[in-house]
Amino acid sequence: MEIAVVEGPPEGVEADVLAFPVTEPARLTGAGEALDPALGGRLAQLIADGELKGKSGHVTLLHTRGELAASRVIAAGLGEAANVEADSLRTAAARVAARAGRIAGGTVAWALEPGLGLALEEQARALVDGTLLGSYDAARWKTADERRKPIERLVLFGQGASALGDTARRAGIAAGWANRCRDLVNAPANELTPAALADRAAEMAVELPHLRLEVLGPDEIRAAGMGALWSVARGSELEPRLIVIEYDPPGARTDLLLGLVGKAITFDSGGLSLKPASRMDEMKSDMGGGGAVLCGVGAVAALGLPTRLLAVIPACENMPSGHACRPGDVVTALNGKTIEITNTDAEGRLVLADALTYARRRGATHLLDLATLTGAVVVALGDFYAGLIGNDDGWSADVRAAAQASGDHAWLLPLHETYKRHLRSTFADMKNSSDLRQAGPLYAASFLQEFVGEGPWAHLDIAGTAFLERGRGDYYAGKGATGYGVRLIAALAERLAK
Ligand code: BES
Ligand code: MN
Ligand code: ZN
Repeated sequence: MEIAVVEGPPEGVEADVLAFPVTEPARLTGAGEALDPALGGRLAQLIADGELKGKSGHVTLLHTRGELAASRVIAAGLGEAANVEADSLRTAAARVAARAGRIAGGTVAWALEPGLGLALEEQARALVDGTLLGSYDAARWKTADERRKPIERLVLFGQGASALGDTARRAGIAAGWANRCRDLVNAPANELTPAALADRAAEMAVELPHLRLEVLGPDEIRAAGMGALWSVARGSELEPRLIVIEYDPPGARTDLLLGLVGKAITFDSGGLSLKPASRMDEMKSDMGGGGAVLCGVGAVAALGLPTRLLAVIPACENMPSGHACRPGDVVTALNGKTIEITNTDAEGRLVLADALTYARRRGATHLLDLATLTGAVVVALGDFYAGLIGNDDGWSADVRAAAQASGDHAWLLPLHETYKRHLRSTFADMKNSSDLRQAGPLYAASFLQEFVGEGPWAHLDIAGTAFLERGRGDYYAGKGATGYGVRLIAALAERLAK
């Protein structure tokens, strides 16, 4: 999607759909007020008749009959003025994009509104996010479908718009990579195998500058001593991959290497601790953390941000078979610690254990892992906030700030030594799951902490946010992958570059 900015007045903006925001209760301000005379007062009339509303998600469409350079106008509701935030604009932009995709596609133009109490820069980013994420189509595998008409161009207009071209285009790069992540996470497990994910990484390393890729296969994983990762991978007919990407741009700080670790279970059946059949199909999304890390690196490299990255993505399937590890098995992780596997469905922490050790050993100064780790985080926080847990308040605050700025929201949960007692094993250094039905995300994080070595580490449990069982009523309108984490990683790398 091409992104442009124009300074001019709304009457002259050429578009298939021209959109402007309205808050509740509806009244005409800014672009809406400027356009109404040319439209013969029809906007004011619609408000008087109670048809044009400022409620969040409400859109009112008018044909312009040649009165404006744009062929249609949409008044898009943001909700009450006092509650307007970036997400309100993302949602409004997504509704407009969905409507435009059903009727015309082509060019969508959006008014920037100084009266909204949101910096124009933030408005620009949110409108780009909402338009791109809102026009994503998950129906890629349908052979016969009424395809949406693509939005080819997004124009942001209004006074001060011309200074925002760079901001808008950079937001477009991050959101575009979030959509690429959604394609990976929505992809079925028979298509997106661990080897296929590594192939995507290889394509990226060719496409983008300053990336170096290394891929470890099953023999190297075993030979390196990654017994925890191997214990999961061995149950599948498909070969595992440890995908390692370095991003080393010119002019970056040399005192900081951001280690990004992403869980990439391309299908989680649970293994011998088999999951129930209902909704097991959604476990194709259990590589959401790995997808976010891969596409997050893509976004950072495409943006040319001067922050060094080390991405480590353990990719494998969790399957039951004659080769699979059994409950009760004891394995030795890369850092030498022994783990009793009491539940083979707690496989995420096993593959992350070795990936975290590996990333720290390769010099990561700051670690962030993203993982669809626990069903319990979905119970606790639902589909909007990811659970954030870390061992360093300053680092957790950085991640929180990036979450807030990007729209990939996260909520801080606690970590405490006392939770470790639930992972004590009679036979080994620890066990991988507790049988208590309590504090699942915290026990999982306590387990991971055993493998992060020295230095700051933060963990995002994205089980609720990476893949939606149903639309969220905002700019993620349907079932499926969200690309959670990609925008957050881009925002974090940007913060760290300063
Ligand atoms: N991949 C699942 C977690 C998950 C659940 C992701 C729902 C997305 C939606 C993970 O591997 C898992 O199975 N976790 C177990 C851990 C338990 C056995 C300690 C869980 O949450 O039940
Ligand atoms: Mn599992
Ligand atoms: Zn899993």
